[in-house]
Amino acid sequence: MQTSRRTFLGNMAASAVAAPFLTPSRVWSAAPQADAHLENPFVGASFYRNVDYVASVKAAADLQGGTLGKQMRQVANYPTFVWLDSIAAVNGTNGYPRSLAGHLDQALEQGANAIGIVIYNLPNRDGSALASNGELLIAQKGLSRYKSEYIDAIFNTIKQPKYGKLRIVMVIEPDSLPNLVTNLSFAKVKEAKTSGAYVQGVQYAVGTLRSISNTYAYIDVAHAAWLGWASNFKPFVDLLKEVGTDIPGGNSKVDGFISNTSNYNPFVEPYLTADQQIKGQSVRSLPGWYDSNDFIDEQSYATALRNALIKGSGAYSTSVGLLLDTSRNGWGGPNRPTGPSPSTDLGEFVRATTIDKRIHKGNWGNQNGAGIGARPVANPAANYHAFVWVKPPGESDGSSSLIPTGPDNPSGKGFDPMCDPKYQGNSLNGNNLTGAMPNAPVAGRWFQAQFAQLVQNAFPAFEPAEK
Ligand code: GLC
Repeated sequence: MQTSRRTFLGNMAASAVAAPFLTPSRVWSAAPQADAHLENPFVGASFYRNVDYVASVKAAADLQGGTLGKQMRQVANYPTFVWLDSIAAVNGTNGYPRSLAGHLDQALEQGANAIGIVIYNLPNRDGSALASNGELLIAQKGLSRYKSEYIDAIFNTIKQPKYGKLRIVMVIEPDSLPNLVTNLSFAKVKEAKTSGAYVQGVQYAVGTLRSISNTYAYIDVAHAAWLGWASNFKPFVDLLKEVGTDIPGGNSKVDGFISNTSNYNPFVEPYLTADQQIKGQSVRSLPGWYDSNDFIDEQSYATALRNALIKGSGAYSTSVGLLLDTSRNGWGGPNRPTGPSPSTDLGEFVRATTIDKRIHKGNWGNQNGAGIGARPVANPAANYHAFVWVKPPGESDGSSSLIPTGPDNPSGKGFDPMCDPKYQGNSLNGNNLTGAMPNAPVAGRWFQAQFAQLVQNAFPAFEPAEK
């Protein structure tokens, strides 16, 4: 069933150009044929609401009750992406509630004309972390299995004529190419680099799946607090250009790039700028927080990346657009600043002024204090195709202690201490506490306490009176 969706036009800086995803009735009367390839597939789109996610949200709201329960229920009105995180996820086996075809059928049933999916199963996946380790290994013919049992299976499903008018928007392999830039000290990433498996896997995925005109590919580009320093940024631009050149059909098969997938980084920091000076020191220089990063938020990072990618040799088309995962980067609630701090001490000023209240920008596991961010919307800002909810709010980033393979961990997900609130950290987060919420289930599983917090700290807030 379709329900009308709230947009947030009045609440955001770029509201003048923002356009809501349309309701189905408007789509059928006004939208162009979806089987022509569009520059921005979000305009005039009515996205599928994942029926299984909607069921989780409704169950969570029933369990919670009261005002917060009513606020929770509204989350079900917004589209989230379907994560194809294993071969079984495509086929709907091994405990997955439905197959990819099952989701596509549900999308048609809802009268949707678009669906978001995440391609996430490279061999040696999540090679620098442990919480979302994949099922395929390079050393065990993982790349050829990725192609034949995973990408080809997706292709054979989506190419069916009955899905020809669905715009199939694909997020391509979160964290994989970024890992090749900074995380070669991890054996699994090193093997991905020396074997070429990540690069070839991404090229095969995009080339195969984009050989159909109603599909759209957005490559994951991590986030500012990972690749924002010039020493990471420049090699990453080169890598993305190199990857694009050898995609079957060329780099015009790439429709754009997505940043902040499953992360918590703000679109903009509303009350401070990178080069603002506090007693002669720039904001971005703050040790232990921005650490001289060139970019303190996602809009500046992704825009600079896009600018670099559409220039020079191996340039991408100027039609490429940006996406931002805003599912958990709202940072609302009682701790959100309402303006700049009066402090003239750099550290105090920055910490009191940023809306991002993490302990360290490298923290990523179930962050305590986070809130749902901007609602999915088309054309939110210059060069942005959309804000989207890729990570479904309420699904865990990883367990806070080891959960053995079994009913609570059917796919054998590992334990990454970055999801343990007691872990003291490592060089990747400046040896800080992780800021993770306690008692988390394995990655992808429902985490009721986190969902409650994400809804309570949503920005814009969910009005209890909305339906
Ligand atoms: C994580 C999990 C994956 C899940 C996804 C969305 O990356 O590893 O299984 O589908 O998050 O919650």
